[in-house]
Amino acid sequence: MHLSTGILKSSLPAFIFFLLIQTSIAQNRPGAAFSPTDSIKVETLLSQMTLDEKVGQLSLFASGWEVTGPAMNTRYKQLIRDGKVGAILNASTPDYVKKLQKMAVEESRLKIPLLFGYDVIHGYRTIFPIPLGQAASWDLDAIEKADRIAAGEASAEGICWTFAPMVDISRDPRWGRVSEGAGEDPFLGSRIAEARVRGFQGTGYEDGRHILACAKHFAAYGDPMAGRDYNVVDISPASLYEYYLPPYKACVDAGVATVMTSFNEINGMPSTCNSWLLTDLLRKEWGFNGFVVTDWTSINELVEHGVAEDLKSAAELSLNAGVDMDMMGSTFLDYLPGLVKENKVKISDIDRAVRYILRAKIQVGLFDDPYRFCNQQREQSEIMTKESLEFARKLVSESCVLLKNDNRTLPVPQRVRTLAVIGPLGDAKKEMLGNWNAAGDWKNCITLLEGIRNKCKGSVNVSFEKGCNINDKDLSGIEAAVKLAQKADYVILALGESGEMSGEAASRSDIDLPGVQNQLADAVINSGKPTAVVLFNGRPLSISHLEAIAPAILETWFGGTQAGNGITDVLFGDVNPSGKITMSFPRNTGQIPVFYSRKNTGRPFKSDQPDEKYVSRYLDCPVTPLYPFGFGLSYTNFSYSGIKALVKGNEITVSASVTNTGERDGEEIVQLYIQDKVGSITRPLKELKGFKKLLIRKGQTVQVTFTLSADDLSFYHPDLKKYWEPGEFNAFVGGSSATVISATFRL
Ligand code: BGC
Repeated sequence: MHLSTGILKSSLPAFIFFLLIQTSIAQNRPGAAFSPTDSIKVETLLSQMTLDEKVGQLSLFASGWEVTGPAMNTRYKQLIRDGKVGAILNASTPDYVKKLQKMAVEESRLKIPLLFGYDVIHGYRTIFPIPLGQAASWDLDAIEKADRIAAGEASAEGICWTFAPMVDISRDPRWGRVSEGAGEDPFLGSRIAEARVRGFQGTGYEDGRHILACAKHFAAYGDPMAGRDYNVVDISPASLYEYYLPPYKACVDAGVATVMTSFNEINGMPSTCNSWLLTDLLRKEWGFNGFVVTDWTSINELVEHGVAEDLKSAAELSLNAGVDMDMMGSTFLDYLPGLVKENKVKISDIDRAVRYILRAKIQVGLFDDPYRFCNQQREQSEIMTKESLEFARKLVSESCVLLKNDNRTLPVPQRVRTLAVIGPLGDAKKEMLGNWNAAGDWKNCITLLEGIRNKCKGSVNVSFEKGCNINDKDLSGIEAAVKLAQKADYVILALGESGEMSGEAASRSDIDLPGVQNQLADAVINSGKPTAVVLFNGRPLSISHLEAIAPAILETWFGGTQAGNGITDVLFGDVNPSGKITMSFPRNTGQIPVFYSRKNTGRPFKSDQPDEKYVSRYLDCPVTPLYPFGFGLSYTNFSYSGIKALVKGNEITVSASVTNTGERDGEEIVQLYIQDKVGSITRPLKELKGFKKLLIRKGQTVQVTFTLSADDLSFYHPDLKKYWEPGEFNAFVGGSSATVISATFRL
């Protein structure tokens, strides 16, 4: 029997201990309230802890890296032995994690095991498309499966906690972290958030292959002013409730084990010391019963925000607001004991935080076996398996979005014998992982060129020219690229951003193609050869110029380990693209924020009166985005007809027919939008309320039916009460948010 369970045993009657062991894991379903057995265990430990040991549990420190491999700072090692660390981040591999865990469970007084956290954002070793790309698949089962595989791999290497999913809604593609989220829509964002929590946590941790998830960054981190990372958020309470909060709430309802506070302030109050957010809303209103961790040093940053005069008062504000664990700041460890003595922090509030953290450790099974996630055998046999790689390849092709396809430029015609792959992203192994690539190794990635060569093997002559770099002013490679294009039957032009141009601290004020890539595109496309552009990027780009000149554009995001193979499957028609963007692509940066669920205004622009001056419009650009939310083409065509909306009591049924009018089978993401025509406050022109992804055979017509309840039409009012208002509604069904077929109903 393990030492830490030994501690519990020695202080409890034998029969209770037996009961605890029998029931501990089974009762610990994600999101469940404290079970009696959890409570006995937690209280037993709590009663033995000194104040220093308690604040130690509230402290999270990062492991570092040296040339020789992973390494732990000497101070942190001593803190672990002293029982003053609750969790470690960025430590991985069974041996290394075991080594650190051993310090805690064999050398510290109370032998409380450590949690090991890691940013498993889109895969662990098998890297899947970036989350914004996965979202474009609208395939909740696939998204859940990707996180299940990621949890399986991470848990074999010592990790029992991920800092994911990131569920920040954002309407601003300048913000680099849109790559980590699901896009602009709260309804879709919430469904994806739930799927991701299920993927990581499963229905429990018994199998040792699921890990604690963390909904982040709470809250509204996705709405920074001017799209600049970490910038202030100034938002009306009704918009906060309606657009930004739903995905976090969905995670809580799905039983997420932890929540991370965001770096930003909301209306003057930084999240990390916002007691309304962390206690009134999260705990009391939503009933969250996991633990709240800060983002990296965000307690310390309260001093920079200007709400705390020093680190000590920052620690006081955060703990009292409802934070349970301090990530990397050391403020809880350094100041909470003193603050308790000065009566500025109550011991009962510290106990609150300790309880939540100990409970998470019990839930994930660390008290039963602190080494259960260090499994060399699983590391050998369950990481980057053939099945995982095949699935990753499939998810890459599901994430691709065909943005333009004039004259059926794609798929690459079978008659093509010489193919030129051109562009700075054509053979860019290091970029394929995108940002946040966990333990993924770029050397394992398949580039676009490699994917195409794997496919063509001798039947097509494939050559490559880079043409230019991703982001500099050097034009010298363009001539060679044009020469290669002239000799080829067909050109694939790989353009976009580097992986590091999105993600944290990677906002851009101009989101067109960087460097001289537009010049490269002009020159290559001018060669007159059929050209398909393949885009790699971590955000929507403003590619109006490219859209005007390129015959075909395939958006592929950053696909991860299997990027090149999955994209090639789409380019050559082995997979018919079905992805739809989940964030609008602006025509230029000045249009941002541009999103589908906009309001009409009192002076809307009307396309049948294009010259009307005194309307809400630009002089130099249309009001619509370049590509709207929900948009994506297929190699076949779908037509919509026969929309009907029927009301029976409080239930609304909306149905429509969708016909595959083209020559190939294809999957279509059928979307339902609603408009509340007259409200006591203004309502958006369209709001997504449902979607279905369907395989429709060529020539086939399917009837699609959505059922809504009146409650689905509720919205937040200025008093923050949510209810629906009777009246007339429009229902729209189609293949994007720009769909126009509609039916009216009254409720
Ligand atoms: C990020 C978080 C991340 C944390 C730990 C922070 O800088 O904002 O998303 O989980 O670092 O790596």
